[in-house]
Parts: sequence; C-alpha cells; structure tokens
Amino acid sequence: MKYLIGIDIGTSATKTVMFDEKFSVICSSSQEYPMYQPQNGWAEQNPQDWRDAVLNTIKNVVSKSGVNAEDIAGIGLSGQMHGLVMLDENGEVLRPSIIWCDQRTSKQCEEITEKIGAERLIEITANPALTGFTASKILWVRENEPEIYAKCNHILLPKDYIRYVLTGEFATEVSDASGMQLMDIPNRCWSDEVLEKLDIDKALLPKMYESPEVTGTITKETAEMTGLSENTVVVGGAGDNAAAAVGTGVVKEGRAFTTIGTSGVVFAHTDKVSIDPKGRVHTFCCAVPGCWHIMGVTQAAGLSLKWFRDNFCGDFMEKAEKEGVDPYYLMDKAAEQIPVGSNRLIYLPYLMGERTPHLDPDCRGVFFGLSAIHTKADMIRAVMEGVAYSLKNCNDILNEMGTTVDEMMACGGGGTSTLWRHMLADLYGCDVKTVSSKEGPALGVAILASVGAGIYGSVESACDTAIKIDKTCAPDKDNEEAYKKFYAVYNSLYGHLKDDFKALTK
Ligand code: XUL
Repeated sequence: MKYLIGIDIGTSATKTVMFDEKFSVICSSSQEYPMYQPQNGWAEQNPQDWRDAVLNTIKNVVSKSGVNAEDIAGIGLSGQMHGLVMLDENGEVLRPSIIWCDQRTSKQCEEITEKIGAERLIEITANPALTGFTASKILWVRENEPEIYAKCNHILLPKDYIRYVLTGEFATEVSDASGMQLMDIPNRCWSDEVLEKLDIDKALLPKMYESPEVTGTITKETAEMTGLSENTVVVGGAGDNAAAAVGTGVVKEGRAFTTIGTSGVVFAHTDKVSIDPKGRVHTFCCAVPGCWHIMGVTQAAGLSLKWFRDNFCGDFMEKAEKEGVDPYYLMDKAAEQIPVGSNRLIYLPYLMGERTPHLDPDCRGVFFGLSAIHTKADMIRAVMEGVAYSLKNCNDILNEMGTTVDEMMACGGGGTSTLWRHMLADLYGCDVKTVSSKEGPALGVAILASVGAGIYGSVESACDTAIKIDKTCAPDKDNEEAYKKFYAVYNSLYGHLKDDFKALTK
C-alpha cells in the first residue's frame, strides 16, 4: 500500500493529512498561527509560522501513522492564494507576507489598470486589477519599501514558499499562479506583456507547472527534520479553492461547489475559458490540466462568524469547553431557533472590503435594522444569513454567465453546519450536498499527488475512487419565498452606503 500527504496552508491554521492510496484518512495534524492587522484593512502573516506549522505537522503525521517513509509516494501542497512572499538571494524571508485579504493597494491597482488598459488586462489576466491579488502587492513594496524590493531575488506564493522549504525548488503551478495577476490565463503561462508593462523581472518568478506534475523531491535536511524520505515527490498542488474543487469532485463541466472557510467561494468548473467582462468574478486555470474555473469570492465568510465568536461569544466558548463541543455547534443551535430573516436584522459581511459582486476595498461590515428586541442569537443568525446572501450574489453571477448548477457541493468549516447548508439550498433553490471526506483542499492535493506519483492515470479517475456523496439538503419552498424579500433588502443596502463607506475611509 502506498500513502499520500495533503497539506493545506490556510489563513487560520495549517492542516496536514495522510491518506492511503484509496484516500481513507490515516491521521492528521494541525497547527494555528496569528494574522496581523497593523492597520485597518491590512493583513499580514509570518511565512516562518507557516514553515514551522508545516514541518511540525508533517513530523506528527509521519510518526503517528507508523507508515514506512519509503511508502509515502507523494505530497500535494494547497493553501491560501495571492499572498506575497519575498526572499533574498539566500532564500531568507525579507518581510512578513502581505496576504490575500489585505486591502492597502488601491493606488497600485489604478496604476496597473492605467499601464495595461482595463480591457487588455481582463483579456490577458481574466480579471480587473484587484487589491487582493499579488501584482499590486509587489508594486506596493517596490514603492513603499524600495530597500526590501532591491534585495528581493524570489517572489513566491504561500504554498510555493513551503515547496521551497521542502524541496529547495522555486516552482508554482497554474491554479495558484492565476491569482497573481501576472499570467496569461487563456495560454496558461506568465504574460511577458504584463511583466514588461509593470517592469517586473521574470527571473523573480518561479517555474510554472500543471497541478499534478512533479516539481521536486524532499531535501536531505527536511527529510531529517520530519522523518520523510528523500524519494517522496512533491507535486504542483493547487490554490485552496482549486484544491477544494478536486477534493469535492468538481472536475467536470456542470459541477460546482460553495466553500465557507475564512473567505467564501462559489466555484464552477469549465472546459473553456469564460471571462466576466465586468470582472465581478475570477477566471483562473484549474487543477485539471487544460481546464479553467470561474469563482466569486466573499472576503469575510467564516471570518465574519469567527470575528463574532471571538468578540461577543465568550459565554458560548466557556459552555463549549465545559461540554467538550465546538462553540460553533452551540452558536448554530442558538441560531436555529431564530426565524428566517433574523427578526428583520440584516448583516453585510464586508469586514475586509468585498470582491464579488462589489469590487470595493473600502466597504465595511454593517448590522442593519438593529432593534431592542434583538438578542445575540438573532445576531449570529444574521451573520450567517449575510454570508449566505453574499454567496448567493456570487452564484447569481455564475448563472448569468451561463453556468447551470443543479446541485451544489458544500465544503470548508462552515460547510459542516447543517443550518448554513440549508440557508444556501433555500437561497440557491437547488440541492446542497457534502462529500463524506471533510478534508477538502488536503484531499484535493493528495489526489493530485496520487496522479503525479503514478498511482492513478488522471485527476478524474482518482476522483472516481476518492469522492463519495454524503448528505443532501433540499430547498424548502416556504423559506425560499421568505428569503427573497430579505435578499432584496440586502442587495439594495450596498448601493445606499457606497459613498458613506468611502467617506468613512477618508
Ligand atoms: C481566493 C481567495 C481566498 C484565499 C484564502 O481568491 O482570496 O479564497 O485563497 O482562502
């Protein structure tokens, strides 16, 4: 029997999972780390924290599993997209990583649009200039920290920095690199035109692979630190969403999933490049070679509920600890008692600005309609509904672009909540299903590793073995009707507040 390891370098934690070659979980290990917000709208993490978490969790799973290191055929890397990691000539980290939800780069986005032209930029990179994406972060460092930029020899994404730690190779793959805004998305390669116009030296960028391809093997030093074998291959892997797609079987035309992690994403697979000319959703290369995906992003999905839990739910957290359950489980139970519409309370989840459908780094969170009758349970439900409305916004645009979704897979931490899945089913008006594995991105990249290691012939055939449908939530007609009215109010609020958000930022 051969074994595979999937590693997901998330925003709140890294999770490392070992699977056997039929994709049953052998064991897993995770380690959390902080996100720093030095200013309102900024977000940074320390690449060294990811490195420590990855090395510790690999060491844990290798020793816990008791598996012979030579039988671990492959490793797949997944993780948060878009983060900027800069290394000097010795491979040392130059500054904290500016991560995906950081919103400081509005000025640099204007500059990118001006230099390349709005239409041409969308034609090549399939997206308008976005504060979350890596290109504007590179320009920000060049402008604000020229001494650091001058020392920069390598630009990497979070999981590709980990690849460098594990294998010593500077490499990336198409799905994650798509979110750097430096790629020619239809042709799946770096765009010379974009690099030239932004004056970014191609030599700073890593070599590009397709997601299941082998990018290197474990270095002697890492093998000694973790108990891995130097013969284990590391494949390209995928950005967290492209990886979650593989881990939920969304690898063919007509399939789609919604994930509620720190961010929320509605993702649809497509065999052809399909670009929203209005730039409200992203088009990226997906982890299945030769295919793409379109996706809409809610910046603060799970992050909204975590923010509410951490600041206002100390009582739930204490009770959860006493009862040995997850605080989110108790929060779910409380929210279940509240009717659709949270007693006329609406939450806008814009804690970290927003991407879909409003490309706006300046908007912020709102509770609308607060009354003295409202309780904490109303507010928890309103947060969950607000996130679900925002995901419905994403799904509406995918439908507008011609994606017909008869069933939606759900994953991510929030996807384990039955209440949240019911909200999505009622709002989307279709079945929302889960797969039996809860490992989403980690399973997705283990599947990619199984293909790179030669155990399966294709991503699709590995998925046929790995993916099993578990629970189904069907829409409820009464709830569907009730939600329509609240969704309409939700949709009108952003337009009314848009200018006020700008004034508040200033
Ligand atoms: C996708 C995105 C997030 C991050 C963090 O564009 O920014 O989903 O990958 O999870």
